[in-house]
Amino acid sequence: MTARARTLTPGLVSALSPTATGSPAAGATGSTGPSSTPTGGPARVVVDLDLPGSTISRHLYGHFAEHLGRCIYEGFFVGEDSEIPNTRGIRDDVVAALRALKIPNLRWPGGCFADDYHWKDGIGPREERPRMVNSHWGDIVEDNSFGTHEFMDLVELLGTEAYVNGNVGSGTVAEMSEWIEYLTRADDSPMASLRRENGRDEPWKVPYFGIGNEAWGCGGNMRADDYAALARQYSTYVRDHGGNEVTRIAAGASDDDFAWTEALMRAATNLEKRDGKAGPYQAISMHYYTMSGPWEDKGSATEFTEQEWYRTLSRAARAEELVARHATVMDHYDPYKKVGLVFDEWGTWWNVEPGTNPGFLYQQNTVRDALVASIHFDGFHRHADRLLMANIAQTVNVLQAMILTDPDTGALVLTPTYHVFAMNAGHQDARALAAHVLLPEEPAEVDGRALPMISASASTTGSTALISLSNLDHAQERTLVLDLRGRTVTGHTARVLTGASSAAHNTPEQPEAVAPAELTDVRDHERGLEITLPAHSFVTVELQLGE
Ligand code: AHR
Repeated sequence: MTARARTLTPGLVSALSPTATGSPAAGATGSTGPSSTPTGGPARVVVDLDLPGSTISRHLYGHFAEHLGRCIYEGFFVGEDSEIPNTRGIRDDVVAALRALKIPNLRWPGGCFADDYHWKDGIGPREERPRMVNSHWGDIVEDNSFGTHEFMDLVELLGTEAYVNGNVGSGTVAEMSEWIEYLTRADDSPMASLRRENGRDEPWKVPYFGIGNEAWGCGGNMRADDYAALARQYSTYVRDHGGNEVTRIAAGASDDDFAWTEALMRAATNLEKRDGKAGPYQAISMHYYTMSGPWEDKGSATEFTEQEWYRTLSRAARAEELVARHATVMDHYDPYKKVGLVFDEWGTWWNVEPGTNPGFLYQQNTVRDALVASIHFDGFHRHADRLLMANIAQTVNVLQAMILTDPDTGALVLTPTYHVFAMNAGHQDARALAAHVLLPEEPAEVDGRALPMISASASTTGSTALISLSNLDHAQERTLVLDLRGRTVTGHTARVLTGASSAAHNTPEQPEAVAPAELTDVRDHERGLEITLPAHSFVTVELQLGE
């Protein structure tokens, strides 16, 4: 793990500056961020129901599971002999909860762990698998009992798609090449035969493959151009076998390191013509985490001041600004948008829960985390034209998790963040709609950034529309008008997620302290609907559309 401070280098990137108010640039979805100009009248969210923009890939709702703390072991994998109901060692309740979210993909095995991981140690009879040290996360011994077959079994149980992250930092080109052959080749090639010896006849599908991780830090402490050369080399040997077509994802920047993105874009090929596929990699990643303090003291997950609340939400809103600015660098080299941007680590990173292993990154999850998630999704929807995928870190028991499991009893708790994913599931593969937020007051300035108290986004399937609304106000409810244009609305339902306080969270004793409920207080209005959002809340409104 490396401290994340970055310095910029001169070049194209230094010519980029954030927009004056800190409001993000609009993506090609036609959607916009909140207006920073005060308007007369009530707060309004104006939605053009008849102007669908880019498709919001379901993969923006992706997930990440690393060999870190209690994510893989205990979180997903308890072993066949566990008293917790399981299928071949994988927890049934965790699978059911994630299937309900329509989890579109799962990234594995890291993270920093990926560049220490040698996949051949994780195949064959479990009792014969070599051990290794998980040096990044707790310096514990990893017994490799969860390996390639177990992961692909999990992918199949979840009904999701695999994003396998390969090892550049300490692995070889041959090792990476053999892994994709082992996973995806059908004939009697050496690696396909080895897979069969280990009990799997049919090849698996692996649509996404990561070429290392955080190569600027834990993945090898490389310079941008040096890594870009390696990314070209390693990607070349991640072959498409049979019908399996891989999107190779080069390890991208942290935060505002636009020079890293620029180096990777300079090294990509076949971008000048509209036709054909980008090579040798088809996507690049970026990472950005939200915390209320500095890296050394990130803040408590559950005990925070009003000031820390707003600072956190302002930092969450920065994610969209970073996406926009990385995308602008990409646009310069890749006007046809052949290279996807993959935001494969995002979410809150707090100080660990008191009394837990500092290397295990176990943290609670409150209403504040829910709003961090909803703000990210609003930004993702607006940049659906360039964003190919996003993966929250991490699915179970680590950082901003969907699911927490009790270390003693195994009891499972769904977090407020889980509920945001569930309430927003209708955006997956829908088409983005512009949602203009018009507020009567000047936005607050927090951390040098304008922070309007309402965040919103919308999408349509054609016959329905889904509008997501977040009230960032710590203490005040907010009534607003949904100004619905371009189509008739024949029906609506609304749901709300909030808690007794902004720090409310779920525990085994109180698993539903923060859970979605029906929002009945939605009134007809001459412009559409009028709705009151409770303080610190997330609301979704589903509309049935006529002509
Ligand atoms: O998600 C935890 C860690 O954060 C990942 O292993 C690494 O990629 C990042 O620094």
